[in-house]
Amino acid sequence: MDSILVKGNGPLSGQIPIAGAKNACLTLMPAALLSEEPLTLTNAPRLSDIKTMTQLLQSLGAEVTALQDGQVQAMSGHGVNSTHADYDIVRKMRASNLVLGPLLARFGEAEVSLPGGCAIGARPMDLHIHGLEAMGAEIELKDGYLHAKVPGGLKGAKIELAFASVGATENIVMAATLAKGTTVLKNAAREPEIVDLCDCLRRMGAQIEGDGSPTITIQGVDRLNGATHPVVTDRIELGTYMLAPAICGGEVELLGGRIDLVASFCEKLDAAGISVSETKNGLTVARKNGRVNAVDVTTEPFPGFPTDLQAQMMALLCTAEGTSVLEEKIFENRFMHAPELTRMGANIEVHGGTATVHGVEQLKGAPVMATDLRASVSLILAGLAAEGETLVSRVYHLDRGYEQVVRKFSGVGAHIERITS
Ligand code: EPZ
Repeated sequence: MDSILVKGNGPLSGQIPIAGAKNACLTLMPAALLSEEPLTLTNAPRLSDIKTMTQLLQSLGAEVTALQDGQVQAMSGHGVNSTHADYDIVRKMRASNLVLGPLLARFGEAEVSLPGGCAIGARPMDLHIHGLEAMGAEIELKDGYLHAKVPGGLKGAKIELAFASVGATENIVMAATLAKGTTVLKNAAREPEIVDLCDCLRRMGAQIEGDGSPTITIQGVDRLNGATHPVVTDRIELGTYMLAPAICGGEVELLGGRIDLVASFCEKLDAAGISVSETKNGLTVARKNGRVNAVDVTTEPFPGFPTDLQAQMMALLCTAEGTSVLEEKIFENRFMHAPELTRMGANIEVHGGTATVHGVEQLKGAPVMATDLRASVSLILAGLAAEGETLVSRVYHLDRGYEQVVRKFSGVGAHIERITS
C-alpha cells in the first residue's frame, strides 16, 4: 500500500487546476443506461471511483470507453444485456446503487446489491426504495440484493423525501425521466451535482424543471437520445485545495474555481480570516495575516456547509486561535480523522456528532493513517502545516477522489512525495 510523505511547509504560491466533479460523474455515467444512443462526458476526472463505475457499467453490457487519458467517458446503453449489479463491485463504491433507477426505467427490472455500510456510516437506501415504490416498483430485499421490478412500467408520482438525500434524488429523477406521466419530487437535494445531472438529462431530451430548488418536476418522455455533456467543476476538490494556502500561508489561484459552488464554505473561510477573490480564471485564496480565527461549523445539505469538507476544515481549525465546534449532521461516523490529527498534536474532543477543536500553536509531523476519502486529504493538509515530516498511509482512499494530488500540491511549492511500497 502506498503512502504519502509531507514535509512542513512555508507559504505556498502558484496555480492549481480543479478537475471535473467525481460526485457528478458518478451519477452522469449511469444516466447513459437511459438511452440506446451514446452519452459522452467531457472534463471527467481520472479517479479510481470512475474506473469502478466503468467496470460496473461494462458488467451490465454497456460499452464504456475512456478517451483522451480518461478525461472523456464515452458510454452507450445500447448493448446492455444484464440488470444484475454484483456485490463484488457495489461493495467497493456505494454510488454503484445509482444504476437502480436507470435500469428500472429502461428495462423494468434490476437486481442491485445493497452496498453495505462504509467507514462513515450505515448508508441505508430506504429513501431510494420509498421513491421508486411510489412510482410503481416492487422492491424486495433478498440475499443482500434489492430485487426490483415494475411490470407495467414506472408511473409519475408525487414523492416527498424525509431527508434531502443526494443519491435518492438522483435515482428518482433518472427513473422519472422515462416514467409515464409527471413526477413531483419534494424536499429534493439541491447540490450542484443534481443540477449538473438534470442539465445532462435535458440535453438527452428529458423534461425537468426546479432542480437546484427543493421541488423538482419531471415530465416523463418515451425515450432519451445521446448527448455530449461537460462535467461540472468539483466543488469538494476546490474547497480542499483552497485550504492549502489557508493552512500554510501564501496565495494560490484555483483554476476553474467557481464561488457559487462553495458559497457557505467561503463564509466560514472569511470568518477564519482567509481572503477569497474571484479572478478571470477561477478563485484566488490567501491568508490575511497571523493565525486563523476559530469558527464553528455545522454540516448541512447544500447550500449549507458540505459534509465532504468537514474533515479538511478541521485540519485548518487545529491551529486556529481559540476553540471551534464542528457538528457533523449528515453522517453518523465522520470524525475518524480526529484521532489521527491528535497524533500530530491537535487538541480535539469528540462526543457523538460534535467535535470541539482547541487550537494549538503548532502541529507536529507524525505517521498517520487515512481512514476514508476526505479524512485522507485532511491529514495531508495538516502535514503541510506541521513541523517535521508526516507519513500518511493507506492512500488508496485518496485515489478514489483526488487525481494527481502530489503534482497539484507540489506545483504550488509543497514538499510532498508518494512512496510506493
Ligand atoms: C452523496 O452520497 C455523496 N456521494 C457523498 O460524498 C456526500 O457526502 C453525500 O452525498 C452528502 O452530500 C456521491 O455523490 C457519490 P445521501 P449519498 O443520500 O448520496 C442518509 C464523498 O466523500 N440516507 O445524501 O450516499 C445517509 O445514511 C462522498 O465524495 C438514508 O438514511 O448521500 C446519510 O446519513 C461521501 N437513507 C445521509 O442520508 C437513504 O435512503 C446523506 O446521504 C439515503 C441516505
